[in-house]
Amino acid sequence: MTATILAGGAAENCPVFIVFFSQSCSTRLQFSDYQGKQGMDSLDQLVIEAKKAFTDAGDAAELENVKARYLGKAGVIPAQMKSLQQLELKERRERGAVVNAAKAQIEAALTERREALAMAEVEAKLSAEAIDVTLPGRGRGRGSIHPVMKTWERVEKIFGSIGFDIAEGPELEDDWNNFTSLNNPENHPARSMQDTFYVDARDRDGKLLLLRTHTSPMQVRYATGRDIPIKVIAPGRTYRVDSSATHSPMFHQFEGLWIDEAVSFADLKGVYLNFVRAFFETDDLEIRFRPSYFPFTEPSAEVDIAFGSGPLKGRWLEVCGAGQVHPVVLGNMGIDPEKHVGFAFGSGLERLAMLRYGIHDLRLFFEGDLKFLKQFS
Ligand code: PHE
Repeated sequence: MTATILAGGAAENCPVFIVFFSQSCSTRLQFSDYQGKQGMDSLDQLVIEAKKAFTDAGDAAELENVKARYLGKAGVIPAQMKSLQQLELKERRERGAVVNAAKAQIEAALTERREALAMAEVEAKLSAEAIDVTLPGRGRGRGSIHPVMKTWERVEKIFGSIGFDIAEGPELEDDWNNFTSLNNPENHPARSMQDTFYVDARDRDGKLLLLRTHTSPMQVRYATGRDIPIKVIAPGRTYRVDSSATHSPMFHQFEGLWIDEAVSFADLKGVYLNFVRAFFETDDLEIRFRPSYFPFTEPSAEVDIAFGSGPLKGRWLEVCGAGQVHPVVLGNMGIDPEKHVGFAFGSGLERLAMLRYGIHDLRLFFEGDLKFLKQFS
């Protein structure tokens, strides 16, 4: 702590000195007996010193500390005021005027410094926020649509062009739509915890909710209460407890449903053949139906395609599950199976995208690797 003697008078019997410690606001100012003449000098000094101390204060907080030394309750000026009481009336008047003048000067200096500091603060803020408009822009590469989304859009476009509606349904499903209404027996392995992601919440029947394992729940959701004919596709995300080069716990499917008075397997075949030819942009492509089993279609089929040229030439590739909508399922939709007949099909979007782009590992779609994704922009 440094102590500065601000003013010192060593006149006979009346030393006047003011001491302040420049780093402390608990500064003790000491006055010995006080008399006018020497005090006048010391007050001039005091004003000079106060002005300097205010100027030295680097910020508002410091300035307030410095102020306390001069104008605060225990400050120099109030002490001077108090000491006036000891003087005779005449002297008190004269001396009072001098002290008041000094006080006014110190106050004016304080106000000035306060304003200067406030101004500097505003200026610093403005310059910190300044934008250099001459800097070149950072640039941001143009993004592109994910190959699976591109495939999704492509499927919608092709089916839209032949009069199919597009529908979307919830990914969080109940037991009725995902299994029971689709004629899925109670003990079917697809219902097991090993295959289905169950959610810690229950539906109105007390059954666990689940992440839909296929888009087929959209058959019942969409058809229930709707006028016939029904022609719809429903693309979306689906989930299964499965992970490998060809299976991902989250993947995409699209469901197709066509219900009318007299649609046949031939119609389904025509629609699907038209779709794959448009999708792969080639007529050099064959299609075949293989018998299969799904609880919600009877009869059921797997649909395979084979390219007549290209790297996959001549290989039968499974791309779709399909079949005639089971009478029980039609009944669950509120549709009379005696009057109406329907066809349903379901394909994986990733599978179609992999065949179209020649991708061998499904996981590439979900790794977010820009080197992979940029190839589709
Ligand atoms: N939902 C079936 C699956 O995920 C596919 C399918 C859809 C089969 C419609 C028949 C009819 O494998």
